[in-house]
Amino acid sequence: MTNDQRSDLIRLACEARKNAHAPYSKFLVGAALLTEFGEIICGCNVENASFGLTICAERVAFSTAIAAGHRRFRALAIATSGGHPPCGACRQFAAEFCEDLPILLIDCDQPDQVSESNLRVLLPGRFELLVT
Ligand code: THU
Repeated sequence: MTNDQRSDLIRLACEARKNAHAPYSKFLVGAALLTEFGEIICGCNVENASFGLTICAERVAFSTAIAAGHRRFRALAIATSGGHPPCGACRQFAAEFCEDLPILLIDCDQPDQVSESNLRVLLPGRFELLVT
């Protein structure tokens, strides 16, 4: 990832967060996913009155990217108030496509202080099905 791509990911994750539909939790999340070709695809959380139907920002970003034909990714940025890491479901969802994805955790109130992690650290022992 170049420095420009890193800045774009941070900026776009914060922008995507503003589109979150989170009237129930009021917890807004934005995600920006960098594809192997340098394209950035965004997502935000979309809540529902039937709470269990809520989908996280990260899974929206991955699903949008997959539907557009992408399969390989270079980095994921997640913007929240507080710089929270992704939930377990989103870690497993990402692990379907990436083994060691760099993950930038952005506190949208202090976007200069980005914490860096990766999927291998956040999800050791991911669930795998060996398909023959
Ligand atoms: N949320 C995400 O978008 N990503 C996560 O990794 C954790 C949680 C959303 C779901 C719900 O709309 C709100 O944050 C509170 O859980």
